[in-house]
This record gives sequence, C-alpha cells and structure tokens, in this order.
Amino acid sequence: MRILVVGSGGREHALTWKLIDSPQVSKIFVAPGNAGTASIAENVDVSATDLQGLVSLALQKRIDLVVVGPEVPLAMGLVDAMHDSGVPAFGPTQAAARLEYSKAFAHEIMDKCGVPAAASRVFTTSAAALDYLAGRQLPLVVKADGLAAGKGAIIVTSVKEAEKALKDILERRVFGEAGDRVVIEDFLEGWEVSLLAFTDGTRVAPMVPSCDYKRALDNDEGPNTGGMGCYSPPAFFDDNMAGRATSLAIMPVVHAMADAGWEYRGVIYAGLMVDEDRIRVLEFNARFGDPETQIVLPRLQSDLAGTLLSCVNGCLDPATIQWRPGCSVGVVIASGGYPGDYTIGYPITGLDRIDPKVAAFHAGTRLEEDGRIVTDGGRVMSLVATGDTMAEARERVYENITRISFSDMMYRTDIALREVA
Ligand SMILES: Nc1ncnc2c1ncn2[C@@H]1O[C@H](COP(=O)(O)OP(=O)(O)O)[C@@H](O)[C@H]1O
Ligand SMILES: [Mg+2]
Repeated sequence: MRILVVGSGGREHALTWKLIDSPQVSKIFVAPGNAGTASIAENVDVSATDLQGLVSLALQKRIDLVVVGPEVPLAMGLVDAMHDSGVPAFGPTQAAARLEYSKAFAHEIMDKCGVPAAASRVFTTSAAALDYLAGRQLPLVVKADGLAAGKGAIIVTSVKEAEKALKDILERRVFGEAGDRVVIEDFLEGWEVSLLAFTDGTRVAPMVPSCDYKRALDNDEGPNTGGMGCYSPPAFFDDNMAGRATSLAIMPVVHAMADAGWEYRGVIYAGLMVDEDRIRVLEFNARFGDPETQIVLPRLQSDLAGTLLSCVNGCLDPATIQWRPGCSVGVVIASGGYPGDYTIGYPITGLDRIDPKVAAFHAGTRLEEDGRIVTDGGRVMSLVATGDTMAEARERVYENITRISFSDMMYRTDIALREVA
C-alpha cells in the first residue's frame, strides 16, 4: 500500500511512525511533513490546504490511501476531492466534518439524538446574546461557531468579559467567518477526557482514552495552547466508562449523521467532561487529536493501515483492533514564550541520545541543509514513553527530556503527575 499522510505536526509524525510498521505498507509520502517525518518517510512540499496540489500528488504517486491529519483540509473538502478523483481517503467528507467546524451544528445533532452536553444557544448579535446571558448563571462559555485553531472557546466569569468576548468574535471578527455565529454554553465542572474512535459510518471502535493538558504552565496556569502533554489511560475513566461514553455519545451521532445523509467515516473525537459518573460532550473533532494521537498510537498493538482502509471501505471490524495494556505519557517540548512570541531557528541537540523505546515526535522542527535539526515552531516536539505503570512511563519520559536541549526550551513538569501522586 502506498500512503500519503497530509499535515506537518506531531500527529502526522506519529501516524507515519505507526503506519510504516504495517506489513501492508510499502511507501509513505508526507505533505508537507516536518524533519521527523523526513527521517522515516518522504516529504513532499505541498501544503495541507492545497487541495488540487494534493490530488495531483496522489495521482502522480499512485497513492492507495490518503490519511488526512488536520481539520482545515477536511473542512475544505479534501476527502471529497480525493474521492472525486478515485483516490481512497481516510477522513470525513466536508459535509460530515461539519461536526467539528460548526459547534452549533454539533449541538443540533446532539440535541436530536439525546447526547448529553451543556445547555447551549446560538447567536449572531451581541445584543441578543447579552439578553440571554442576563438570565444565566456565570461562568459561561462563549464559543466561535467555526474553526479557530483551538482559541475560539472563551470562559467568561462576568458580564464585562462576556461583552468583550462577543465583541471580539461577532464585531471585531478576530476569528474571521468562524465568528459569524457564537454558541453560548453553560459551564460544566469535571475532568476532561478525549475519547477518539474509528468509524466506518456504521460501526464504531473506540481507542484508549487520554487526557491532555492545554495550559502552558504547571498547575494549569498560563494561557491556553494547542496542548502541552497528554497521558493514557486516566484512572477516573475506566473501560466501563469508555464503553458508556461510546454508546451514549459517539454511536448515536455516527448513526444520526448517516440517517441525515452525511455518513461519517474516519476518526470521531469526543471531548468529554466527566463529573463522577456523569459524562457530557464538550465538542466533537473530526480527526485524530494532537497531541492525543502521539500518546494513543504507541498503545495500538494491531495494524493501523488495515484499520484505516477498512473505515474508508465501510468494513471496519472492531474485533481486529487490539490495544497494549499499560500506560503512556507524552510531554510537549516548546519554544520559550509559546503560545505568545518566540524565536525559531535554534539547533536541537541530544536527539541521538534518546532511549530507542521513547518516541520523539516532531512538530515545529526543520532539517537544515547541513543536516542539523532546528526549532521551527511553538510546539517543537513531544517525547512519548510507555510503561507498565504511569509512574514508569512518566519517569522514562522526563529522564529522556533532560537529554535534549535547545535555547529557550520549555516544557511542563507535571504531566500525568495527578495519576501518580
Ligand atoms: N461548556 C464548557 N464547560 C466548561 N469548560 C468548557 C466548556 N466548553 C469548553 N470548555 C473548555 O474550553 C476548552 C476548549 O473548548 P472546545 O469546545 O474543546 O473548543 P476548541 O477545542 O475548538 O477550542 C475545553 O477543552 C474545555 O477546557
Ligand atoms: Mg477542544
């Protein structure tokens, strides 16, 4: 099988890393990829949002399966474009991906099939939104309806903050047309879990659950980021809870999408809030998570390529998917200053000293012509270790981080700490 992975982050490095393991896979291209994917596959310099360029590339390279990483090309219709050209592509169609790129739509679907979520309303003007707000209890969550690169959900604790959030989104248009509408949600308490699942439109196979850390600094302080670390599995979310969440939140949505004519194939990612034994959905994503993928895939024992292809072909057999027992911990190494301003271009040393059992998934890295790997983004890479216990995985990952260095290197020291403390 010849595969084209689309994207350039740690998620795509992890996907490529797992896919090359497959006996069915003979060649992998990554567009555009990063220094990590370049070391195990062939990067091609086509942007993840250049739909026509990607289709031409897939045809030219005789690709048997395209695997789409990020949400933006899914929302632009990359999977549809590939299918129109006869290229099998893993991921939802543009119509199905709406589950992620419209939070209002996701709430409609959830309401229709009784999936538990925060009470919510949709608005297009600040005045109407403020009227509604006056009758609700704070805090509330104001969300841009569309894709906002993980920055579109704003927790507001006062009317003043709400006014500012609404003004930013609806009037100043800080998220562009993603802010044509806002969704206002009640604030939910609890612990967050990411539950991703493979689906072929009918059948659903959940992956192992994981928890990610979004704040930049230890103790969940500092600004929100794309994710600073992740671990699997959370002790508070056992197999029984995962099974309940799958039948309560994921299966009904997959079936409702099919009934409505938007059959959903690919990865469906449920962001859940868990309060004791109460499970509610915060959002759906239409793709593998980043950094969840980097932590979850090392626990996947069975073949990934076959599973992805079976989703595309509508013949997923959940019984063929096996997970390794044990734990995994991933820590993101970032450029100092991220998610604000930071400097790139610093050489990264020590990558050759990492324990071969620990995976280093690159995100913002670049391979220089002289062979050096330099920093090239806010989130530079993540190190992921597995172990029989969380303590073992955690110790291994943090011990290996000390072997890596670059100027202004920054990482959180408390990933998975709550599971071992
Ligand atoms: N209703 C809610 N109650 C409490 N926290 C929320 C709620 N909705 C979102 N959040 C917090 O905001 C984060 C981002 O919201 P989410 O809906 O996942 O949007 P996105 O990932 O697109 O930015 C969540 O991970 C969660 O921490
Ligand atoms: Mg989210």
